Amino acid sequence: MAHYFEERPETASRPGSVTLVLPDLHLKLETDSGMFSPERVDQGTRILLETVPPPPAEGDLLDLGCGYGPIALTMASRAPGATVWAVDVNRRAVELCARNARAAALDKVRSVHVDEVPPEVRYATIWSNPAIRIGKAAMHEMLTRWLSRLTPDGTAYLVVQKHLGSDSLQRWLNEQGWPTARTASRSSYRILRVEARPGVGPAR
Ligand SMILES: C[S@@+](CC[C@H](N)C(=O)[O-])C[C@H]1O[C@@H](n2cnc3c(N)ncnc32)[C@H](O)[C@@H]1O
Repeated sequence: MAHYFEERPETASRPGSVTLVLPDLHLKLETDSGMFSPERVDQGTRILLETVPPPPAEGDLLDLGCGYGPIALTMASRAPGATVWAVDVNRRAVELCARNARAAALDKVRSVHVDEVPPEVRYATIWSNPAIRIGKAAMHEMLTRWLSRLTPDGTAYLVVQKHLGSDSLQRWLNEQGWPTARTASRSSYRILRVEARPGVGPAR
């Protein structure tokens, strides 16, 4: 069965587009089959973008699991002075996110495969609609890898559906040493704010 998180989706390309309308932003984004939510901007993604505080104006920012780029492009629009890293395992999504950023003239978006990000980069914030469906162990590994790269005063915002385990994820993050609180709750979605782990360096 095809998954949206395959590295090279075999599903035939079926180009489409969606419109992202936020109070401060109106973007038309190209989409394609073989990636997450190509028919419309995901409701969780929209709730995240409607509830997060403004991103830091400068530095390196991260959209973990960028898909075709609604989160990365919103970050870049709201923080034009920052470098926004948009990373994904799905190469079709990475390419499309890069194309969407070019079309929106957001030239500080760096859309790259997860393994092509320079490991020394540290992020002032991370915004993510994380890929829960890859399974708990893989998701924990992914979050450990990237949350460890927050700057010491950095903060991440994650949107997670309640029925996909937002409460247990919050508990797990706190147990791992990342102070995590729920900052918003809308429909079945929860927004988790995760602070950098005090005094602990990157896992790898
Ligand atoms: C729920 S989707 C969100 C996509 C996009 N940010 C949006 O809001 O439409 C999660 C994304 O994470 C990607 N992903 C899966 N495993 C990953 C990993 N290990 N590292 C980074 N991204 C991953 C998937 O390919 C997918 O694009």
